[in-house]
Amino acid sequence: MSIEIRSSLLVGQPGLRIYLFVLFYLGLLVAMSLVVNNLKIIRLGFSYTSVGITAQLNEFADKLIHNFGHLLAKKGFDPAQLPNQTYHFIWTFNLTEGWLQDLATIARLDDVIASYKSQTRTLNIALPLQFDTLVFSYKYDRHVALHHKGTVQGKINKVKIDCQLSYNYATYKVHLDKFDIRDSGRITVHFTGQGPIDWISEALVNSLSLFLHPIILNIIQLVIKKPIGHIVDGVNDAISNVFVP
Ligand SMILES: *[C@@H]1O[C@H](CO)[C@@H](O)[C@H](O)[C@H]1NC(C)=O
Ligand SMILES: *[C@@H]1O[C@H](CO)[C@@H](O)[C@H](O)[C@H]1NC(C)=O
Repeated sequence: MSIEIRSSLLVGQPGLRIYLFVLFYLGLLVAMSLVVNNLKIIRLGFSYTSVGITAQLNEFADKLIHNFGHLLAKKGFDPAQLPNQTYHFIWTFNLTEGWLQDLATIARLDDVIASYKSQTRTLNIALPLQFDTLVFSYKYDRHVALHHKGTVQGKINKVKIDCQLSYNYATYKVHLDKFDIRDSGRITVHFTGQGPIDWISEALVNSLSLFLHPIILNIIQLVIKKPIGHIVDGVNDAISNVFVP
């Protein structure tokens, strides 16, 4: 069976084909059903280990996330553009041509855990995600009497995301319950440029790090969360077309 749907998945990309993701999510649903059935088996006393289920879900999630990374790269979100900024610390710095790189390296952080709640007939999936290292850069223009130009480069390590999805067996809907940055990671920044560097103090570097950190987290949220939400919507459309009479 192959299903193809079209959706305006990413901003300015109408008609994007996301059939691969639909197949993966349908696979996920099958996997979820298996888990539910297996929980019943466990209750009946058969020796099916939850370790086996976890391994299957992990393997499945890895494929899903890997393909999501590919899609981000293909659609021009790796590198992702960072907005121009004006920054004040003793002097004024104009920050332009900002880029954030390696969003496509999104990966599973930990075991994928599925749990079924019989009262609400929902299967909840916790999908912990991580970016190991993201790199970014801006061109800076510091205006004193003259312009001092150069580049600020930086890294942000170990950004962790709590992603939770659920499937409701009563409504046939997948829902994105949560997409939160759980750990905002560690940021480091350094300046490169020509001329004397005595004006680059530790206080300046620390202050700029604090300034850029939320800006970068915001771009991560924007770039990653929206397509996941659109994929969930697309999957729900596909489910309602295929499974619901
Ligand atoms: C810096 O940015 C401000 C605000 O966007 C602008 O008015 C100013 O002309 C810029 N200066 C330089 C040197 O680019
Ligand atoms: C950012 O700054 C650059 C250089 O000054 C300018 O060419 C560009 O249009 C600006 N982008 C936005 C979105 O303002």
